[in-house]
Amino acid sequence: MNVTFDFGRKNFVVVGASSGIGRQVALELSQSGANVLAVGRNLERLDALRKSSPVSLIKHPPRIFVEQLDVTTATPDEWSSVMENFTRCVGKIHGGVYTAGIWGLTPLNAFDTELARKIFETSFWGAVNFVQATSRKRFADEGASFVVMSSVAGDYAGKSLFAYSAAKAAIQSAVKSFASELVRNKHRINSVAPALVQTEMMQNEMYSAIRFDKISSSQLLGLISPFDVAGMILFLLSERAARITGQNFFVDGGYVVGSFA
Ligand SMILES: NC(=O)c1ccc[n+]([C@@H]2O[C@H](COP(=O)([O-])OP(=O)(O)OC[C@H]3O[C@@H](n4cnc5c(N)ncnc54)[C@H](OP(=O)(O)O)[C@@H]3O)[C@@H](O)[C@H]2O)c1
Repeated sequence: MNVTFDFGRKNFVVVGASSGIGRQVALELSQSGANVLAVGRNLERLDALRKSSPVSLIKHPPRIFVEQLDVTTATPDEWSSVMENFTRCVGKIHGGVYTAGIWGLTPLNAFDTELARKIFETSFWGAVNFVQATSRKRFADEGASFVVMSSVAGDYAGKSLFAYSAAKAAIQSAVKSFASELVRNKHRINSVAPALVQTEMMQNEMYSAIRFDKISSSQLLGLISPFDVAGMILFLLSERAARITGQNFFVDGGYVVGSFA
């Protein structure tokens, strides 16, 4: 049995939509009838995503809009202008997904300070700025749902991964705090924490340094696809998750239990 969602006449922002999990979420939202604002740095890839919008014969087919933004340098004014452009065209948003993230090893005795800072800025501060900008009353309809990306590394930090793991743990805590603030506008927010997902991030050469084979073999259900993670994210954005907020959801392919098997 397949599970489908109807996001017809809804509007969503997806940050990190040029690749991997974010791209899959943007595509599925669009295929489910939503207007999507796809944000990232790589304009060529975002344009390719825009062109893959489903062909439709209905009068006002859903559209994918594209904005180029570097989340590590974006100012509050830049975030506002991105949101202004989108909401002027389609109306207020019904939710947003933040998947921007970079990965890298940061061994305590020899870490690259710039890399560690960028990892934190992308996964944590970028997500914080995203939630602040997109959840404002002028941009978000009452009852909007937000999802940000954590990782199993946030709970089970690996060797030489302090920056990535700390950023992913920090975002889980921030989500719990944000949930109790956003509820004043009936908004919800949750995080999703995958284990190894088959995306470009996994092709990072440093992955081999953490004995990728060993880690992936702990995933009892095998490697995870962006489609698997998008399923959880779409559920959290949907009305079926209307009573869920401030939580973190593992999509780990059995990694945690497999590590102790
Ligand atoms: N893959 C995994 O095994 C795994 C496991 C657990 C958690 N996660 C988390 O899941 C999320 C998505 O990962 P993924 O595997 O889909 O990675 P991915 O394929 O490498 O995609 C990462 C996305 O982040 C965007 N991004 C990176 N830096 C950015 C910046 N400074 N400004 C704007 N956008 C930026 C990239 O877009 P541009 O290059 O266009 O900027 C890209 O769209 C990340 O937060 C990651 O930490 C992944």
